[in-house]
Order: sequence, then structure tokens, then C-alpha cells
Amino acid sequence: MKYLIANWKMKLTIAESAALAEEVRDYLARVPVSLKIILCPSFPALPAVREVIQGTALELGAQDVAHLDRASLTGAVSSLQLQELGVTTVLVGHSERRAHFGETNDRVGEKARYALAQGLRTVVCVGESTAERTAGMTDTIVAQQVHAAIEGATHPENLIIAYEPVWAIGTGTPVALTDAHATARSIVQLLGDGVSHHPAASVLYGGSVDHRTIGDFTGAPLCGTLVGNASQTAQGLIALLRVFSTSSSS
Ligand code: PGA
Repeated sequence: MKYLIANWKMKLTIAESAALAEEVRDYLARVPVSLKIILCPSFPALPAVREVIQGTALELGAQDVAHLDRASLTGAVSSLQLQELGVTTVLVGHSERRAHFGETNDRVGEKARYALAQGLRTVVCVGESTAERTAGMTDTIVAQQVHAAIEGATHPENLIIAYEPVWAIGTGTPVALTDAHATARSIVQLLGDGVSHHPAASVLYGGSVDHRTIGDFTGAPLCGTLVGNASQTAQGLIALLRVFSTSSSS
């Protein structure tokens, strides 16, 4: 199964999130696509989006999750609470969480282990900064991040790694396809070494994907994309979906 995960970040209001989900739902009712689509609105919009997509193949994702349940963590949201809201998938370790909220590899690992143990599909975001890339450290940084995320992880079938070079996010310039493939292959190798029986096809690419590039970035060894900007309007998201249309009426 190939994935399209739409990361709406904090860009939309609750009403806008529900309206966008409605447009996607209605489009897909007319034009089926061969993709698993997961919508990730911000926390307060989860119930409204859930209501819109209930009974469809669309799934609900959250952009972050706490590393504990039922704890004194003011402002945090737990796996348990997200599951009550119908969330199947969580993102952890997005570079914006690492940069703006000080999340370390260790914390990201804790979050991933917890979410996996609770049975959530867990998408761990990894990727190098501009400086790290310039210094030739891409492989080292990605390996450190992947190791921290998979150490002690259970339910490997629910673990996905999203390779998102920090410098490619929101810039309009995705990584070269050959580089994305090379990094995806080394992540698959790390997963195979570190998590027994890990399914091989579980690396996404994210960073400035749009309708012109999503087809390429969805092919093996990648298993899909994590898309920000291009997924945040009906026009943008439907243009992405159109690439995977299985009918001619798109
Ligand atoms: P972008 O964001 O598609 O806008 O580059 C991707 C992401 O942050 O997950």
C-alpha cells in the first residue's frame, strides 16, 4: 500500500479543516485512487474532520503525540486520547517539533515506542539540515535519528520512517529523486538490521512534494509521501490525488 499523508500543520482553522476534508471525501467518492490517504489536521480539528470522513477509506492522523498516557504533562495529548478520537496514525519527530519545541532524538524515540505499543501507526520523521548536508553528514544524521526511533520498538509493522530533509521542507525544492532513493534504501537497511521482521517497504519522502513530483516520490523504494503545503488547499490536494486516479473521470 502506498501512502499520501497530508500534514496540515497549524495552517487551517477547524472549519477550514472540515471543509477541506469534505472536498477530498466528495472527490474520492467520484474518483477512486490507489492510495491510503491520511489527513493530519491540528488537534482541535480532529473531531470535525473525523465526522466528515467517517465511513470512508480516509484515515485520521495527528501531528504529534505525548510519550506517556495519563501523566501530569500540561498541554500534551496522549495516544489514548487520540485513539478515542479515531486517530489511526501519528507523526513524531517532525523537524518543526525538533526545531521549535526542542525535541531530541531520545524524546522522539520515547514517543515512537509509546505510540507503537498503543497500536498506532507511527510515522517518525528524520532528515538532515542544510549545514549537515553541506558537511556531508546526511547518512550519519539520518542513521542516528532512525536508530533512536527504532530502539526497543514493538509492532514494527506499524512503523514508518518519513525522510524529510529539513532544507527541502516548505522551500519549493524537493531533494533529487536519486538522493531520496539512496537515503530510503539505507533506511530500509537500518530498519531490517534494527527491527526484526520489519516490512521493507516503509519509507516515505517529504519536503516540497507537489502534483508534478508526487508520482516519482511515491515509487519504490519509497512507499509514499508526507505533504505539507500542497495538501493544504482543495485545489492542491485534489491535484495530488488526480495523479493516482484509477478512472478517467478525474
Ligand atoms: P512541505 O512540508 O510539503 O510544505 O514541504 C512537508 C512537511 O513538513 O511534512
